[in-house]
Amino acid sequence: MENTMKNYEDVDSWKTIMFLYNSALKEVGTKLEILNDEFQHVHKYNPIEHIKTRIKTPESIVKKLRRYGYEISIENMVKYINDIAGVRLICSFTSDIYRLAEMIGNQSDLKVLSIKDYIKNPKESGYKSYHMLVSVPIFLSDSVVDTKVEIQIRTIAMDFWASLEHKIYYKFEGDAPEYISRDLRECAEMVSTLDEKMLSLNEAIKECLEKQEE
Ligand code: GTP
Ligand code: MG
Repeated sequence: MENTMKNYEDVDSWKTIMFLYNSALKEVGTKLEILNDEFQHVHKYNPIEHIKTRIKTPESIVKKLRRYGYEISIENMVKYINDIAGVRLICSFTSDIYRLAEMIGNQSDLKVLSIKDYIKNPKESGYKSYHMLVSVPIFLSDSVVDTKVEIQIRTIAMDFWASLEHKIYYKFEGDAPEYISRDLRECAEMVSTLDEKMLSLNEAIKECLEKQEE
């Protein structure tokens, strides 16, 4: 495999690069659907509520490279932008997030490059989510290219919060009035409380049903 491993430097056209990211997104998307189906088959339960995939637009790739202070080039984009291909997994419960992260980590063809646990360590804004940067081998006719995909795993409540926060962030260009940022942080607390309550409620329901079956 080493001999056929192509350097990103050799792959010089934008179209080829975007083709790779699209393929990586398909690979990871299918993998996750299979994991979810298998879980449903074995445990009669879906850890994934839904899956969203997206490819970063050329505009936001350029914007991010500028923000990072790098020259605009395909090489820099492949090297420094980790979320060109992005998958978001939305779950019902926090426990599903860690279950999924473990399942993803156990996939022998995926390489986990980094993990950021913003659930254990939320951002200043109140943002919570579990991020995994993985790479997946894309088998082309004459080479294999490891391609990066960013996987964000969060609960429905965390996702609800993040979408609103994202919208506000863009509306105010990152400079929201203090009372709005404060309210958002308050909502983030409520999201955590809701997630905890829903999880313990779900556990209680399961226990109750198990007792009934005995
Ligand atoms: P960027 O923030 O994307 O430049 O990269 P990073 O290296 O800081 O990675 P990080 O894991 O912090 O963020 C990656 C992605 O997570 C972002 O592109 C967003 O989609 C999401 N994200 C991170 N922080 C926030 C946040 O405070 N609010 C919202 N709504 N989304 C966030
Ligand atoms: Mg960031």
